Amino acid sequence: MFEKIQAAPADPILGLGEAFKAEQREGKVNLGIGVYKDAAGQTPIVKAVKEAEKRLLDKENTKNYLTIDGVAAFNAETQKLLFGAESEIVQSRRAKTAQSLGGTGALRVAAEFIKRQTPAQNVWISAPTWPNHNAIFNAVGINIRDYRYYDKASHSLDWNGMIEDLQQAQAGDVVLLHGCCHNPTGIDPTPEQWAALAKMSAEKGWLPLFDFAYQGFANGLEQDAAGLRAFAANHQEMLVASSYSKNFGLYNERVGAFTLVAADEETAARAFSQVKSIIRTLYSNPASHGGSAVAIVLQDEALKAQWVAELDEMRSRIKEMRRQFVDLLKEYGAEQDFSFIINQNGMFSFSGLTPEQVDRLKDEFAIYAVRSGRINVAGITAANIRYLCESIVKVL
Ligand code: LMR
Repeated sequence: MFEKIQAAPADPILGLGEAFKAEQREGKVNLGIGVYKDAAGQTPIVKAVKEAEKRLLDKENTKNYLTIDGVAAFNAETQKLLFGAESEIVQSRRAKTAQSLGGTGALRVAAEFIKRQTPAQNVWISAPTWPNHNAIFNAVGINIRDYRYYDKASHSLDWNGMIEDLQQAQAGDVVLLHGCCHNPTGIDPTPEQWAALAKMSAEKGWLPLFDFAYQGFANGLEQDAAGLRAFAANHQEMLVASSYSKNFGLYNERVGAFTLVAADEETAARAFSQVKSIIRTLYSNPASHGGSAVAIVLQDEALKAQWVAELDEMRSRIKEMRRQFVDLLKEYGAEQDFSFIINQNGMFSFSGLTPEQVDRLKDEFAIYAVRSGRINVAGITAANIRYLCESIVKVL
């Protein structure tokens, strides 16, 4: 039977990581997958997490199963980060959270829930977006519609195009929004635009689904939640897929959360019982380690402050690399103006490089980026920035 199976294409992002590993040339540069690197080019364990892991090792006294929804303290802390500890949603207990296998796991749970439990006809996804969004919703068989997001000429949000396309979204349709640090463009709506979108969404009766994987990487934990909170203030129902891969550096522990908000506590509990039966058939219940470590950090004032400081440091380093990258491209003779890169948020820069230019960077210079032209700015360091800029100018 198996001999008839056709090979699947390599994943556009994770496939790059495999190719990079196999790359033999000295001085190779990986700007593909969205992983933070420090000034030395390492992806270190966050110190607050390391300390939480020590405490966990000391105190943990069982490896019994978690419940289907995971670590209760983790779920409670997640809601506070998303909506604010004093928010009406948290206080009225009309949100329910399940610890998930990373942000991707949360999105898959969301997709299954939408397909099985809501009348949604379409899910509206920004063009461009993270390629796995389309793959996940295709996998559950939900119809996908695109909305314009990016204006290539001005390297900015195509606000008019976005609104024009979303005008067609019907009541009950799902609209997927990137909470901050839009992947791949790094361009987010302004607070005014978020407010307008939230109003439009509430008037039209959409079901908003937030993919919130980079909280803390644009301007700060609270500031980055502004879009999500604008929607929360205007909606009785919404869904959130959030991730601790980046802001806690817990990539390989697979720590994320699926959060469902309903009109009241009783409705939330009923809907959430369906979420739990979905999870039971997907992976039964999550692994304990990563979620427990996050809960320890977020419940301890000193550890939380340490984590916030470490997160601030990551954000500052990326911003500084953006500035140096733009300056050096100019210094090496790039004729195009790349200053738009400074205003983008998060790890990624939608550089404007064409797929052919990205291919040349790989083939001729051992520099790996996503073919869409997305560059992981967090992968730029003092050791590779000159080689990188020189090489980019050569392929331009
Ligand atoms: C990325 O976009 O590079 C990250 O979100 C990692 C992934 O899973 O694709």
